[in-house]
Formats: sequence, C-alpha cells, structure tokens
Amino acid sequence: MTPQDASTAAAKVCLMAPVVPVLVVDDASIAADLARALVAGGLPALEVTLRTPAALDAIREMAAVPGGVVGAGTLLTPKDVEDAKAAGATFGVSPGATDLLLDACEANDLPLLPGTATASEAMRLLERGYTVQKFFPAEANGGAAALKAIGAPIPQVKFCPTGGVSLKNARDYLALSNTLCVGGSWVAPKDKVLAGDWAGITALAAEAAKLS
Ligand code: 3PG
Repeated sequence: MTPQDASTAAAKVCLMAPVVPVLVVDDASIAADLARALVAGGLPALEVTLRTPAALDAIREMAAVPGGVVGAGTLLTPKDVEDAKAAGATFGVSPGATDLLLDACEANDLPLLPGTATASEAMRLLERGYTVQKFFPAEANGGAAALKAIGAPIPQVKFCPTGGVSLKNARDYLALSNTLCVGGSWVAPKDKVLAGDWAGITALAAEAAKLS
C-alpha cells in the first residue's frame, strides 16, 4: 500500500466521527460490549492500544462488532504491525514514525496514522506521502494553538490530535482547518468499563459524537 493510499484510508477513518476513542483494554471478554456501546453512541472508529496483554484479543472481538471499524494503536515495531493485521485491525496508529514502522505498514497493507510532534516530523512524513497524521502528544505539545501554527506553513497535512484531549478542549482542535477528528480516552473511563456501565459509555460517546 502506498503512503498516499494509506492517507486516503486514514482520512476516511478520521471523518467517520469527530472522536476516535483510544482504548486500553485489560480484559478481552468485555471488548465486544465496549465496542457496541461506543458504536451505539455514534463513534464507529475505535483504536485499541497495544499496551496490554489483552489488546490483540480485544481487537479480534471488536472486529466482529457490526458497524465498528477497529484499529490498533501504539504500533512501535514491524511485529506489532503484523500482529495487529492478523488480529483484524483495519488501520494502525503510532505515537511517532520510523522508517521501519512505515515500511512494515506499507508492506502489510495496513493504513497508518503516523504520529508527529513537530513541523520537521510532519514535513518528513509529507515527503514520503503521508498527508494525514496524528499530532501527539497534543496538549503537551502546545495544544490547538501549536497545531494551528503548524497548519499555516503546512496546510496540506491534516491531523488527528491525541493526548490530553477531552470534552473541554476538543472543540478548540475541531475548529481548526487542519484537524479531521480528535483521539481521546475520555469516552471510555476505567471506572465505567470496570462497572460494565455500557449505557454510561454510550451516553459519553453520544456527547462526543455531537462535537464539531
Ligand atoms: C494515548 O496514547 O494514550 C492517547 O494519546 C490518549 O491520550 P488521552 O488518554 O490523553 O486521551
């Protein structure tokens, strides 16, 4: 898959809803319920981070949920890419970008939303053909003001800011012309997941789905 095709696919995922839930799943047995709750609230694109032993099984479970589009986050190595693809992930997200990781995603036909934190990183990815990128860690990097400033000289790159984004500041990003969507974990808080409060999570998703 070319970087251009990967960016087209990543843009499609980002435009499904204003928010991509970033999920850290400790127990794969609740993954399908969690995915159903988020999809029911209007957030179909889901990122499961590869940070827990249950993550790949969670992706497998979520990939079977109707209406959901499941990706793997925290891709760091070529093996992560292969594992994510085998588990059924249809897109990938990474905190940063290395040539090794980009090569692996392209070779495995996994559309990647590659992480970038600076203008130089965004330019490097753009040189390779990636026009859709993740701005990470968004708030720690200067937030919406920084992303807006990057957009002035590099308007052709569109972003999904992630990291410290919440209901409070999501609108600041979504108002930017270079922001397609935001990523965030606030729609699936640990207490609600542990309690199996799926209705509560659907309500949070619905609130997030209305953001613009
Ligand atoms: C992450 O990598 O954990 C994401 O960027 C989500 O960050 P958040 O928990 O601040 O939403």
